[in-house]
Amino acid sequence: MRIGVLTAGGDCPGLNAVIRSVVHRALVGHGDEVIGFEDGFRGLLERRYRKLDLDSVSGILARGGTILGSSRLERARLSEATDNAEELSRELGLDALVPIGGEGTLTAARMLSDAGMPVVGVPKTIDNDISSTDRTFGFDTAVGVATEAIDRLKTTAESHQRVMVVEVMGRHAGWIALESGMAGGAHGICLPEREFQVDDLCRMVEERFARGKKFAVVCVAEGAHPAPGSMDYQKGEIDPYGHERFAGIGNRLAVELEHRLGKEARPVILGHVQRGGTPTAYDRVLATRFGWHAVEAVHRGEFGMMTALHGTDIDMVPLAEAVTELKRVPESRMDEAESVF
Ligand code: F6P
Repeated sequence: MRIGVLTAGGDCPGLNAVIRSVVHRALVGHGDEVIGFEDGFRGLLERRYRKLDLDSVSGILARGGTILGSSRLERARLSEATDNAEELSRELGLDALVPIGGEGTLTAARMLSDAGMPVVGVPKTIDNDISSTDRTFGFDTAVGVATEAIDRLKTTAESHQRVMVVEVMGRHAGWIALESGMAGGAHGICLPEREFQVDDLCRMVEERFARGKKFAVVCVAEGAHPAPGSMDYQKGEIDPYGHERFAGIGNRLAVELEHRLGKEARPVILGHVQRGGTPTAYDRVLATRFGWHAVEAVHRGEFGMMTALHGTDIDMVPLAEAVTELKRVPESRMDEAESVF
């Protein structure tokens, strides 16, 4: 068989582990040929690919990023692929395509599959917000990075008697904020799933200081929103080109807390540091298992499907189900965190 593999969307620790696993299982286990498309779906459209042998994936298990490169594809260009899906597969001699990606990539994968391309998807995202799998690789690494940051920030916060506002990734779902906030013992956790009250955060900080504690850490997801009317700092700034730009929630919240509390506050925006670098052992194992199962699904002819973790098992689920809605943090998990929302 000739199997194509590509990585699309934002990168994520563990992508290389999947590529390596696909190549090993396909070549060693089945005697297949594997080609890797460069820069996601762009490489597929532009016929930019290279043959992947065991040597080309040697030493990449622990490496962050993706050796194939990644990109986000515009809608119009995606139609180019779906309009010619069967023709494209035939021309490239593809028996199967294994796209590795998040919500956007899996939606594109489903469209290609519907258009006649034999596709088996592999989910990835540090955000852990894909509904039909219990976990995505990359999440454990991101939580580890954010937790370490919170641990480190506590000592400097205490030295200077400050409030630290740590902004972590998560536009639509607050899994990273929830778990790193819990693991790091943040004193306030703000998630996109539930609006927070700035007054509650101020009360929490004041109570801590009244108890003799001289610092506080608030962990806020980038997509978290204050309840309407609860935050004064709402306005954006006009940039030199005349556009109104809004500071991220971490920056605005730190300014607001400093102003209201009369205590020094500092924002720390973790950003892409959460996505870079070496994957944890957990993420390497999950990514490797996903790659192995994707190749097995290809050989069973289970197309239009995606690998998923259910409990400790890897199952195949329809791509159509995978992308219907995002997995958000449920109320029960927010209550467990016992924080200020
Ligand atoms: O989907 C993963 C994610 O890391 C989000 O949490 C974040 O908002 C986004 O990607 C950032 O993407 P970009 O790399 O395009 O800035």
